[in-house]
Amino acid sequence: MAFKIGLLGLGTVGTGTAQILLDSTGRHPLLQEIEIHRVGVRSPNKPRAVKLPPERLTTDLEAIVTDPDIDIIVEVLGGLEPARSLILKAISHGKHIVTANKAVIARYGAEIFTAAEEKGVYVLLEAAVGGGIPVIEPLKLSLGVNRINSVIGIVNGTTNYILTRMQTEGGEFADILADAQKLGYAEADPTADVDGLDAADKIAILASIAFAGRIKLSDVHCEGIRQVSAADIAYAQKLGFVIKLLAVAKREEPVPTFPTDSDMLQMRVHPTLVPQIHPLASINGVYNAILVEGEPIGQVMFFGPGAGSGPTASAVVSDIMNIAAVLKTAGESHRLHSLLSCVHQHYCAIAPMSELVTRFYARFLTKDSPGVIGHLGTSFGKHHVSLESVVQTGFRGDLAEIVVVTHDVREGNFRHALEEIRALDAVDSIPSILRVL
Ligand SMILES: NC(=O)c1ccc[n+]([C@@H]2O[C@H](COP(=O)([O-])OP(=O)(O)OC[C@H]3O[C@@H](n4cnc5c(N)ncnc54)[C@H](OP(=O)(O)O)[C@@H]3O)[C@@H](O)[C@H]2O)c1
Repeated sequence: MAFKIGLLGLGTVGTGTAQILLDSTGRHPLLQEIEIHRVGVRSPNKPRAVKLPPERLTTDLEAIVTDPDIDIIVEVLGGLEPARSLILKAISHGKHIVTANKAVIARYGAEIFTAAEEKGVYVLLEAAVGGGIPVIEPLKLSLGVNRINSVIGIVNGTTNYILTRMQTEGGEFADILADAQKLGYAEADPTADVDGLDAADKIAILASIAFAGRIKLSDVHCEGIRQVSAADIAYAQKLGFVIKLLAVAKREEPVPTFPTDSDMLQMRVHPTLVPQIHPLASINGVYNAILVEGEPIGQVMFFGPGAGSGPTASAVVSDIMNIAAVLKTAGESHRLHSLLSCVHQHYCAIAPMSELVTRFYARFLTKDSPGVIGHLGTSFGKHHVSLESVVQTGFRGDLAEIVVVTHDVREGNFRHALEEIRALDAVDSIPSILRVL
């Protein structure tokens, strides 16, 4: 029995996928039973790094997703449309889906998984988070019996690359972003990466699996790295931290029963001061890592290449092979494997950010007048913010620079204290406010 693939897209990931499928020597023998039947592209005459018979390429993507000979549709087009519509149409024609498209899954996952469940087909998406890093299937299968308390990831290679270079070279964000764009590490329009949107898509997907409930993307608090300055990186280093863009999904309080309607999740993406001894602190450059904490497993960290043609294709083809293996075992009359399919229907409750309890780092520019630190301390004290450290670090022009790190504090209280501090005569500005892991 040969399994026929309809490949939508022959760009970075599509090419890597075809290359693995066309070169099965030394890989799992099941790959020899998987055949690329049709390939959908935008420009069929473009030179390609992978050799396929020209008649297999088409611009008619609808014809691929409705082709009765095709068993599995591999969507590696990117973007929201036509990817979403083609996935839904393929499902309605009984095709199984493999996709690398986090943007579509994070926004339309509910619609797609409901349709797939009704039709009895799989939608697998290992490549959508962490590129080549196996994390989705391990969460579903190998860690499935754990009560997950948190999933914390560095899931965007572009921002990790920029922050790592800011750390090692001492440069400013805008200069390093421009250089990253020149070198191909950042897109011409870097918004999705540097504003944290891509990481928000990914943590929404990870959380929906880890916490067995749907996540509304609009519930994920999202801050990017544009406001991180060379000064903050340097102060963080002095205080024993590195700054990373973390995507966090966390149960508010570990609860003894699972799942319950009363579970509240924190869902947030923001630059974070990470203690230098923390396992995520050493993840540098374009690499990704996802730290999962569960009971009884404890901490498990997944680390590896978060993007790239080969690594991402490794995840895509593994998904194809998983589906082929299940179909081969079960035959035509297969019923969905409950550990590979998605069955949950409810939405997770997300706690408001004002209720978050965390440590903060803040940098103030103040007039060089006596008693400023005392005023700051008074305002913080009034709002129950206790300070772990206060560092008067010197001068920026004729303004004094003061950095504080708080103990754990309710975010709402901290924000109220900042409003009061901002109104003080002696305070010129508060250039940075960052959370601390
Ligand atoms: N690149 C990575 O490292 C990576 C990592 C993880 C996940 N992903 C995800 O994988 C997906 C694909 O990314 P990619 O980097 O491979 O993209 P890409 O290099 O831009 O390739 C996109 C492919 O889709 C085709 N295509 C796009 N829109 C089309 C349309 N409307 N009609 C017909 N063909 C169309 C393009 O055709 P032409 O070749 O004719 O232009 C191209 O072959 C995205 O969802 C991305 O987020 C990528």
